[in-house]
Amino acid sequence: MRNFINIKDISSKDLRKILNDAKKRKNKRKKISTLDIDPDRPLKGKLLIQMYEQPSSRTRLSFHIAINQLGAGSIIVKASELHLGKGGESLADTAKILSTYGDGFMLRTDSDKKIEDFSKNLSIPIINLLSPSSHPCQVLSDIFTVEEIKKKPISKLNITWIGDSNNVLNSLIATSVKFKFKLNIGCPKNYRPPKFVIDWVKKNKRKIYLYNDPKKAAKNADVIFSDKVVSLNDRVNKKKKIRDFRNYRVNSSLLKYAKKDAIFLHCLPRGNEVTDDVFLGNKSKVWQQALNRVHVQKSILLYCFGKLR
Ligand code: CP
Ligand code: NVA
Repeated sequence: MRNFINIKDISSKDLRKILNDAKKRKNKRKKISTLDIDPDRPLKGKLLIQMYEQPSSRTRLSFHIAINQLGAGSIIVKASELHLGKGGESLADTAKILSTYGDGFMLRTDSDKKIEDFSKNLSIPIINLLSPSSHPCQVLSDIFTVEEIKKKPISKLNITWIGDSNNVLNSLIATSVKFKFKLNIGCPKNYRPPKFVIDWVKKNKRKIYLYNDPKKAAKNADVIFSDKVVSLNDRVNKKKKIRDFRNYRVNSSLLKYAKKDAIFLHCLPRGNEVTDDVFLGNKSKVWQQALNRVHVQKSILLYCFGKLR
């Protein structure tokens, strides 16, 4: 049994195994309908419990499909519907109950500590569905999308992030270390990744490249990523933050600094950090990106259950 909480805690070898498995499984489903079960039914009979403390469209739906395709069953609960959400039952007791009824637990939360606490009290795997510091399922799936479109290992590509230093970027930074790819980040000086993230990169003998000028960050990029300026877990003056990022909007003139065949990715939901013409334009691969979450999350689940081939 393994957890999937942070990319940085998973070996490069296992991350690569997940991506390889996802590719094989995706190829095999070309002519199969959404809810048809994979013929090998690897998670037959298992119950996976998803819990959301915050809104989600893509994560909940893509996991619902992923779980079904693996032959397992899923139930989605809102934190506020459990005794835990109302404070009437301890986390330890809730974890025991989840482990009694379920075979896997998946949590979107506003607290990294809560994921850690659950992981200590559960006897079933836990998957992080987004926390303040990490969005590992999203980013591993995004690496899959990049390699699928570019038909090259990510280590041979220049990746650029334009925007806030948030959970998605933290996970992207972790994958840049694991898969050894070049990562440029364009953001205002006072929104750079936190020291503990930079220190971790250094400790692992890798480098990330920080620019205040988004054009410099975008130069020669194969892929440009962006994300909302204000994240679900941000407790900030939203107006001020959006103002601080006004020069970091991904528009068609910024894309000109990237390679001619560069692609644009965004995990969604979006705000005004990207213009409509870029988001809906032919360089944008955001819908393919969203769909791939189903395929990669299936292999993440199989990793957790020790069933990767
Ligand atoms: N990208 C993503 O995780 O979307 P949701 O918040 O809709 O799940
Ligand atoms: N950084 C965003 C990602 C949403 C999927 C957030 O945390 O709100």
